[in-house]
Amino acid sequence: MQAVANKLQERMGTIPTDIQPEYKPVEGGATMKALAWFGTNDVRVISAPIPDITEPDDVILQVTGSTICGSDLHLYHGEIMALQKGDILGHEFMGKVFKVGPNVKNLKTGQRVVASFQISCGKCEYCKDNLSSFCDRTNNSSLQNYMYGQRDAGFFGYSHFTGGFPGGQAEYVRVPIGEVNLLPIPDNVSDEKALYLSDVLPTSYHTVVDTGVKPGDVVGVWGLGPIGQCAARWAILKGASRVIGIDRVPSRLSFAESNGIETIDFSQHSDVTKRIYELCPRGLDVALDCGTFHEPKTLTHKIQKTLMLETDVPETINEMIVSVRKMGRCGIIAAYAGFANNVNVGALMEKGVRLIGNGQAPVRKYWEEILNDYIIPGKFDPTFMITHRVPIDDMAKLYRAFDNRIDGVEKVFVETQFSSAPSAGCPAISRVDDWST
Ligand SMILES: NC(=O)c1ccc[n+]([C@@H]2O[C@H](COP(=O)([O-])OP(=O)(O)OC[C@H]3O[C@@H](n4cnc5c(N)ncnc54)[C@H](O)[C@@H]3O)[C@@H](O)[C@H]2O)c1
Ligand SMILES: [Zn+2]
Ligand SMILES: [Zn+2]
Repeated sequence: MQAVANKLQERMGTIPTDIQPEYKPVEGGATMKALAWFGTNDVRVISAPIPDITEPDDVILQVTGSTICGSDLHLYHGEIMALQKGDILGHEFMGKVFKVGPNVKNLKTGQRVVASFQISCGKCEYCKDNLSSFCDRTNNSSLQNYMYGQRDAGFFGYSHFTGGFPGGQAEYVRVPIGEVNLLPIPDNVSDEKALYLSDVLPTSYHTVVDTGVKPGDVVGVWGLGPIGQCAARWAILKGASRVIGIDRVPSRLSFAESNGIETIDFSQHSDVTKRIYELCPRGLDVALDCGTFHEPKTLTHKIQKTLMLETDVPETINEMIVSVRKMGRCGIIAAYAGFANNVNVGALMEKGVRLIGNGQAPVRKYWEEILNDYIIPGKFDPTFMITHRVPIDDMAKLYRAFDNRIDGVEKVFVETQFSSAPSAGCPAISRVDDWST
């Protein structure tokens, strides 16, 4: 798939954008540690050139915190198009400002900042509404334009389908348009509390807000990885009367239960919808897809996906459509790439279900609100989901461990040579080889 996608992209040429993805290496040839993609299930920690200021709006960060996201697993499985060997991955990271380009006025060397996972221009129609993930001017992928009719913003470390920008699972990153894409962090907010403003916090908040969770709602959350655990928490903060989480990983189910979420283990209840109606005869008010499309559970979709008759699977979407009440709302924040067969379009139409593609979360719309209204006053402490801390040297092993969900892993803090010591109450450093399987 990668070869075909890259060929097509090459043939169509790139679309002009405000910024270019490639960076200029620093003079002298100094290198850094970075995680790069080489093929399906093949990622490696490599020595890569340290980026220098390439365009006048750039900021170079020394990364003080990075992590892995469920979206990285789609890359790991080779299910996002237009990956190229040697691409540096990682879209959720924070750091200290190391160098600023001549146009950058609001940031100083040494300042602590968190990066938005998407790169937005700050000026287009979407950026003016803070819909940063939908920025029109930063993603050069003609392939995405062909498939979707339009393009998302460029993303860090997320294939040439989203612009081909090197990512933040690295010791240094070049952040284009740094004034727009970096948020300064106050001294009294620890790195562990700030890092996830990059992605998982705005993303999980966005699905709850965009799908319209209201006080009293009964909410179903498919997938209890970091996104699902946070979405469940936001739903309760927005007044949901009950949250029912669906997964099959025992540690994730019991973690959700310890946080007041009812659960359904789909390895025990193969008919998830039937179980939902047993627990909630009226049907759910809201269903949120926080799962993943690369793990089909029915034979028919295993076969269709293997034969490339579909790129994605509709199982969760169908369960959500059937499980909500008439006029219920279903939000999809889980990433999908292309096509899924057998969608229950009859139930969707006849029940008047509102099926909402939440899109990639517009980080800039929410990050200040989450920092100022939830993290600083202590209403939402993101450290609840951090289970491990590892050095960047273990990044490739972390992909395997996170994919296999071993040792109760939820969210991980990845440190570099520039990181501070762990904050009180947060996990100490561990090595992936020492995790239990
Ligand atoms: N839209 C965005 O802006 C955005 C941003 C970040 C992540 N995401 C997406 O959100 C999703 C979740 O991310 P994460 O970091 O929590 O990932 P994760 O892989 O850690 O968690 C996914 C969970 O879904 C569960 N699951 C798999 N199939 C399921 C099924 N049929 N029913 C119920 N649960 C099922 C898995 O067991 C796993 O626990 C991913 O698809 C990711 O790509 C989207
Ligand atoms: Zn992500
Ligand atoms: Zn824009």
